[in-house]
Amino acid sequence: MGLLDGKVVIVTGAGRGIGRGEALECAAQGAAVVVGEFDPDAGEAVAKEIIAAGGRAVAVGGDVADAEAANKLVSTAVAEFGQLDALVNNAGILRDKTLAKLTDDDWDAVIRVHLRGHFLPTRAAVQYWKDAKRPGHLVHTASTSGLLGNFGQTNYGAAKAGIAAFSTIVAMEGARGGITSNAIAPTALTRMTLDLMPDEFRAKRDEAIERGEFDFFAPENVAPLVAFLCSDESSHISGKVFGVQGDSVEIFQPFTSVAEITNGGKRWDPAGISGRIDELFTAAGIQAGAENMMARMRYQILAEH
Ligand SMILES: NC(=O)c1ccc[n+]([C@@H]2O[C@H](COP(=O)([O-])OP(=O)(O)OC[C@H]3O[C@@H](n4cnc5c(N)ncnc54)[C@H](O)[C@@H]3O)[C@@H](O)[C@H]2O)c1
Repeated sequence: MGLLDGKVVIVTGAGRGIGRGEALECAAQGAAVVVGEFDPDAGEAVAKEIIAAGGRAVAVGGDVADAEAANKLVSTAVAEFGQLDALVNNAGILRDKTLAKLTDDDWDAVIRVHLRGHFLPTRAAVQYWKDAKRPGHLVHTASTSGLLGNFGQTNYGAAKAGIAAFSTIVAMEGARGGITSNAIAPTALTRMTLDLMPDEFRAKRDEAIERGEFDFFAPENVAPLVAFLCSDESSHISGKVFGVQGDSVEIFQPFTSVAEITNGGKRWDPAGISGRIDELFTAAGIQAGAENMMARMRYQILAEH
């Protein structure tokens, strides 16, 4: 018995990396999987891998930020497997540069693939669930780059923070229909991230894998949480953001107000704020500048470039 027996799941960007792991795990848990992927060969290979292992899968090519391709993911799930139960929005790209060097195209491409690429398949899935009067589960892919910030990633971080906000609002709108919406912020070594690592780190990791040690950064480590969030076992969880890597699952606290100052029923004047603003930092235990070693390091890098 698998957690997803009889269910149908779409995973976008499932041809490699984290999405591939998610597609394989959902299939191993009993789901029929629609493998959405821009690169047709990679998508077909994953679908074949699932079928060879005794599962059910179909590859759907196309750009997830294109409405026709996004709608096709849902229509294929229904045509091939009779229904849709969960959508995992995973497809993504990077175009890292510091802001001053970022081109219009670097900005537009990243915002398009991530935000539009989350919006379109989600809208198609939600429309299907509303029309069919069925519940459904959505898993979106945010990133710590958006939640915490990361040097050189204004475009990517803005898109990923936007995805966390998108997920929260979809959760509010879906609640009455039994539609859950959660976001993950994964970390794994994939085509997207492996090249960013120093050679020494990669060599040590390869040696550890050869010794049979747990590979903390394997993309497949993200998949069990995602398969769970696609299942009815998670129906009571919605509007949440989870960190996931290695054997670790975290919960992020949402943006929330933690302190307040008021001006005795009168509009503030700017000079008055100057004299009172530190009350907020003191009450909240938040520093006006970089708050910890990692943040200080990031600001330092920024100052030097
Ligand atoms: N790897 C990490 O540490 C990490 C960290 C935080 C977030 N993420 C996010 O996880 C997701 C998966 O990343 P990954 O590391 O597995 O990357 P990856 O490059 O290994 O895989 C991404 C897949 O998405 C596909 N894809 C890209 N654009 C597409 C489009 N427009 N339409 C359809 N498919 C498309 C690619 O062809 C590729 O197969 C991304 O959203 C990424 O931003 C990854």
